[in-house]
Amino acid sequence: MSNQPKAYQIAVIPGDGIGKEVVPAAQQVLEATGLPFHFVVLDAGWECFQRTGTALPPSTLAALRSCNGAIFGAVSSPSHRVPGYASPIVAMRKELDLYANLRPSLSAPMKGSQLGIDLLIVRENTECLYVKRERLEDDGDTAIAERIITRAASTRIARMAFRQARQKAKTKRQKGLVTIVHKANVLSISDGLFRESALAVAADYPDVAVEDQLVDSMLYRLIREPQRYDVVVAPNLYGDLLSDAAAALVGGLGLAPSANVGDTFVLVEPVHGSAPDIAGKGVANPIGAILSAAMLLRHLGEDAAARRIETAVHSVLAEGPHTPDLGGGATTEGVTAAVIKRLEIGD
Ligand code: NAI
Ligand code: MG
Repeated sequence: MSNQPKAYQIAVIPGDGIGKEVVPAAQQVLEATGLPFHFVVLDAGWECFQRTGTALPPSTLAALRSCNGAIFGAVSSPSHRVPGYASPIVAMRKELDLYANLRPSLSAPMKGSQLGIDLLIVRENTECLYVKRERLEDDGDTAIAERIITRAASTRIARMAFRQARQKAKTKRQKGLVTIVHKANVLSISDGLFRESALAVAADYPDVAVEDQLVDSMLYRLIREPQRYDVVVAPNLYGDLLSDAAAALVGGLGLAPSANVGDTFVLVEPVHGSAPDIAGKGVANPIGAILSAAMLLRHLGEDAAARRIETAVHSVLAEGPHTPDLGGGATTEGVTAAVIKRLEIGD
């Protein structure tokens, strides 16, 4: 018997386009932490659909269920409707009940990022307009989309937000703040239910401050004063929009990580897509995927290793090298090697 700790089983789904470049980069960084990992590479996406007739093979889903977590790159979606094709990321969120989408935005030490921002958007990941119940009326001129908000989903996403705020407050040594986002002045029934459910959860977290804000003024204030926000909880669509805006404040898409979290599983992914315009050139920014890998470690309870990766990334952002999206001339490989080198120096 060896004393080697049991390896974490991590599913790796590169997907399409630059997913196939940035996910291996994140995998190398995970390996460089020295923690024991066993990686299981799985197939999904548009190329997979073209090859096999399904974008998410049952074998991928079955293998995922036996892993501790997953890292996903990106998939391409056809711009027109293709019979039989459905986005695998949406299907995975549903199948694995990954009900929370966590999207942190942290100031980066470089031009193009504002200072003093450390916020986390907790986006509901299963309902709202994304249930995709759309139809065209018989006249062909009226389109209707249903929007579902339930007390159960609103309550569990609010619990996630308050837990995250409590956790964040510990490391920052200050009282956490949760901002509940809604549009209950217009959608008084659906957004009213979201707001009411989230406020009911707040009562269980007296150590965390709470406020609620209309989504339009929230977006305005996010742009004007991003530093005042801590944890923001929102229904699916508002969370989607707010988190892209927040990413723009701290250096852009190439840097933004995210995690899809359920009660028993976590799947992390960079926020960006498959970027067909730069795919295959070796210049995709791997930082979004690398920071996503750090989020995966945090969910596995490996906080120290997650922090080491974040510190290494911070130093590469401050000193370079940078990929072309950040105005530099480095390759994906060059930036990844620089992160790994700093991880080793940090040891
Ligand atoms: P995109 O995020 O792929 O690209 C937008 C722009 O940002 C492009 O100019 C791209 O070159 C640049 N960019 C993105 N990530 C970058 C990185 N890591 N380094 C350097 N530059 C980067 O979004 P777009 O163009 O709207 O979509 C392209 C494809 O990706 C579509 O098929 C879309 O459906 C899919 N997509 C998939 C997502 C996912 O799998 N979760 C999310 C968003 C889009
Ligand atoms: Mg989006």
